[in-house]
Amino acid sequence: MTFAPFQVKVPATTANLGPGFDSIGLALQVYQSVRVIPSSTWCIEYEDETHKELSIGNDNIIMSTIKKVESIFNQQSPTASLSVRSNIPLSRGMGSSAAAIVAGIAIAEQLLGLNLSDEQKVKIASDIEGHPDNVSAALVGGLTVSRYDQHELDFIKLPTHNVGILLMVPSHELETSLSRGSLPEVLSHKKATSSSAAANVMLPAILMNDWSTAGKLMEKDGFHEPYRTKWLQSFEDIRHYAKELGAYGCTISGAGPSLVIFCPQESQKNIHKELELSYPNYICIKTRLDSIGTTVSPIYLKENMQPPV
Ligand code: HSE
Repeated sequence: MTFAPFQVKVPATTANLGPGFDSIGLALQVYQSVRVIPSSTWCIEYEDETHKELSIGNDNIIMSTIKKVESIFNQQSPTASLSVRSNIPLSRGMGSSAAAIVAGIAIAEQLLGLNLSDEQKVKIASDIEGHPDNVSAALVGGLTVSRYDQHELDFIKLPTHNVGILLMVPSHELETSLSRGSLPEVLSHKKATSSSAAANVMLPAILMNDWSTAGKLMEKDGFHEPYRTKWLQSFEDIRHYAKELGAYGCTISGAGPSLVIFCPQESQKNIHKELELSYPNYICIKTRLDSIGTTVSPIYLKENMQPPV
C-alpha cells in the first residue's frame, strides 16, 4: 500500500495566559513540519541539532501517537519515513509535545484516510497530553478555550485581533511533569474564585481587542504562577521592564520556563531589542498569532516530478 508524499505543519502554542490554566491556548507563528514519504519500514529523523536528543524509537511521541490512532480505529496505516524540522524549542512551555501529538494524529488521519472532526482530534490529543489547552490551539489555530474533565471535552475557537507577542526562552529546559508536580493539591476557595474571575474578564477583553485589560488580568493568576516562579529566571524584573517599555502584560508560557509578553504591534520591535540587550541569557522570539492551525499539504519529490514537455 502506498500514498502520495505529504507534509504536516503544526504551530507552537502558549497555554494558560495566566489564570486560564489548563483551558486557554493560543497558536503562534513558530512551526514544526513533518515530511511523510512512503518507505518499506517506519523511521523518523530530526533535522535540527537541538531535536536530535529525542528518541527515534517506538516511544517517539509522533510515532506512538500514530500507533494510538491506528489502534483506536483498528486499522493499520502504510509504513512511512518521517522527517521533522522544528523551530519549537523543546521543554520550554511552547507546546513542543502538543505539536508532536497533533502531528501524529494528522499523519495517521491522512495515512488511514480518516475524516475526523476537530472535536475527535482534540479529544484524542487531550487523552494523550492530559490537558487540552495546547493541543486544541495547535490543531485549529487562533485562541481556543477548552474544558477537559474525566475524558469529557468541550472546546471553542474564538475570533481574535492580532497583537505583538514575544517569547523569552531561557537556555534551560523544564519538564512539564516537574512543573505540574509543584502545584498544590488543594487551593483555597477565595484564591480559586479570584483567579477564575480574572480569567472570565480576560477572555472578553481579548475578544474586544482590549489588550490593556487582558494584560493586567493575565498577571492575576493564583492557579499556578505563584508555585512556578521558582523555576524562572528574573521573572519579576522582566515583567516590570516589559511593562515599562509599553507591554500589556507578561506571564509564564504554558508550564514554563519561557515567558510570554503581549504588546502593541508597533512597539514589538523596540521591546524585543531592549529585552534582548538586557537579558542575554534568554532568546527573545518575536512572533504573531497563527490563525490557521495544523495544515496538511502535498509535497513533490524530485524523482516523482515529470520533466516539462
Ligand atoms: N496548562 C498546562 C500547564 C500547559 O500549565 O501545565 C503545559 O504545557
